[in-house]
Amino acid sequence: MKFGSEKRKKEGGDYDFVFDNQIEFIKHEVMNCTSCCGEAYGDSLEKSMGKSGFEKLQADRRSLPVYSYREELLKAVEEHQVVIVVGETGSGKTTQIPQYLHEAGYTRHGKIGCTQPRRVAAMSVSARVSQEMGVKLGHEVGYSIRFEDCSSDKTVIKYMTDGMLLREFLGEPDLSSYSVVMVDEAHERTLSTDILFGLVKDIARSRPDLKLLISSATLDAKKFSDYFDCAPIFNIPGRRFPVEINYTRAPEADYLDAAIVTALQIHVTRPLGDGDILVFLTGQEEIEMAEEILKRRTRGLGTKIGELIICPIYANLPTELQAKIFEPTPKSARKVVLATNIAETSLTIDGIKYVIDPGFVKMKSYSPRTGMESLLVTPISKASANQRAGRAGRTGPGECFRLYTSYNYQNDLEDNTVPEIQRTNLGNVVLNLKSLGIDDLVNFDFIDPPPEASLLKALELLFALSVLNKKGELTKVGRKMAEFPLDPMLSKMIVASEKYRCSDEMISIAAMLSIGSSIFYRPKDKQVHADNARMNFYTGHVGDHIALFRIYNSWKETNFSTQWCYENYIQVRSMKRARDIRDQLEGLLERVEIEVMSSSGDLEAISKAITSAYFPNCARLQKNGSYTTLRHPQTVHIHPSSGLAQLLPRWIVYHELVQTTKEYMRQVSEIKPEWLIDVAPHFYQLKDVEDTGSKKMPRGQGRR
Ligand code: CDP
Ligand code: MG
Repeated sequence: MKFGSEKRKKEGGDYDFVFDNQIEFIKHEVMNCTSCCGEAYGDSLEKSMGKSGFEKLQADRRSLPVYSYREELLKAVEEHQVVIVVGETGSGKTTQIPQYLHEAGYTRHGKIGCTQPRRVAAMSVSARVSQEMGVKLGHEVGYSIRFEDCSSDKTVIKYMTDGMLLREFLGEPDLSSYSVVMVDEAHERTLSTDILFGLVKDIARSRPDLKLLISSATLDAKKFSDYFDCAPIFNIPGRRFPVEINYTRAPEADYLDAAIVTALQIHVTRPLGDGDILVFLTGQEEIEMAEEILKRRTRGLGTKIGELIICPIYANLPTELQAKIFEPTPKSARKVVLATNIAETSLTIDGIKYVIDPGFVKMKSYSPRTGMESLLVTPISKASANQRAGRAGRTGPGECFRLYTSYNYQNDLEDNTVPEIQRTNLGNVVLNLKSLGIDDLVNFDFIDPPPEASLLKALELLFALSVLNKKGELTKVGRKMAEFPLDPMLSKMIVASEKYRCSDEMISIAAMLSIGSSIFYRPKDKQVHADNARMNFYTGHVGDHIALFRIYNSWKETNFSTQWCYENYIQVRSMKRARDIRDQLEGLLERVEIEVMSSSGDLEAISKAITSAYFPNCARLQKNGSYTTLRHPQTVHIHPSSGLAQLLPRWIVYHELVQTTKEYMRQVSEIKPEWLIDVAPHFYQLKDVEDTGSKKMPRGQGRR
């Protein structure tokens, strides 16, 4: 029977787990094992039990598929400057290859850098490798992610996000401190990885001593090989067991619900101790919601079912909590991992036997026409679906439950995910390349070129922000902005704050906007209190940016008190991150010789400085309470979490657009239309900002 939204409505949103609401699956096919030879990873774990932790780790290392190819791989690296390494996820590429190279002496004259598309992967993999090497994280083995450098002079194996290595080019254009660069998870084709390809390919020519490894989890490595002048492809045969693929009989209207029901179905019908469950969801909020529902439902079932250990994992999950997903599951329980796409190839969790795949991912999309970028929940590609299924067959035969039909799979899913460079705003990359002295972007050696319209749009934006002059050269402002590891508008806001004498407030705001995780929490039983506490920061009808600054400052005034955070329903962890980021931004201000100055309560100065960067993101109120963007008219709405969501000011600028049920603007501030002409006369004309809109406000809410 279908468990759709109708049923949920009838029950008034009650998620009680009812058995006759089971989701029926059709067993469709078996994804065959690539090679089932060799002992299962779990077996060797079993055998090595009883040894000391360190010995056990060494035994684990020897049991990985890549281990049998150690010598051959080292030989290939010795003989060739560039090697493409292909191996199934979990074969040991990320954790082992840098260690092999280190053991073989490649770190005598430089370090090994290994890039990851995701922060969590860089952190967790480096932690694992430091354990395997018996060293302290941050010493010989370290990691570097934006706003967090956990490495030192001693570091010889450095895991980092691809974006961080890109930034290192700014300070060290030939990467002379590196002897090896491994561009890992190349199949993910993130924007930074794609740009790195071009840069490392170029420096390899002038640095014959530099070794390059490009590693990927998919078999489609020929493209990489062709790009790197026919570099040899080194294959690590995987060890994958058959995975049974199941499809739903009909499309599921509510995939979150369907995923939860399926997880519970598996849990109660399969013997405990036979394997864990991995569920792919699209983001933190969805994962938190699923966690809550699962907890509630299992609690309701009491001792009727075995223990279910719920482990969330997403990019912004605090480090202490990340470790939980790697802990072995007790025989008397089952683990259910609720993960974003991060578990598709970046992280390997042992013991997964069941994969639940709703078929969606949160992906950036970009319209070069309007210059608008939004995060969209989008169907995955066939390649992704198969990677996900493969996660079930690593330690033994597994099962994958696709919450879509086999018809959907065959006919609706694209073969491959479109590389990020073709669906994103290129402002940041163009600024980075320009500051590296790469002016001819059209002829940059892209593995897949971005759409010309996106490049032009980026140039147009950078020109509008006065980053580039008419000749396309970096201006003084642009040079300063390039020092900040932030999106161009955010760094423009900081650099512009010098003129408005509010750099102190601006770096707090920029830091708060860069945390990446939510600032507030809203416990179910105390929602009213939480909302009241939040609205306190909006006194005087200020916008979200100023509220962010007030929050930061109030916390600072209490000497960064944790108690204060509790009382105000604010996540202390997010605040600590904001403080770290702010400290770094303050250091960068000094570097670009901008004095830290406070506007001393002049809120208009702050709003003007924001407008001088965010003027392209301007929207104006419509009669029906929605907004229209000014430059390329499109209907948008203020996100309900904004402090201005009820107030509906006539003119606003927004920080970002997110599409969920509607196209929402997040983090908005009210502006005066005349400021637009003031800060961007080259971008707006008087007629654009004439206040011809209706004077009547919806729902009787007048302008303040
Ligand atoms: O890079 P690849 O997917 O080929 O594999 P890997 O990340 O090097 O992982 C090899 C093995 O190391 C995994 O199967 C895990 O057993 C283990 N590992 C871990 O326990 N904790 C981590 N944070 C990363 C890897
Ligand atoms: Mg890996």
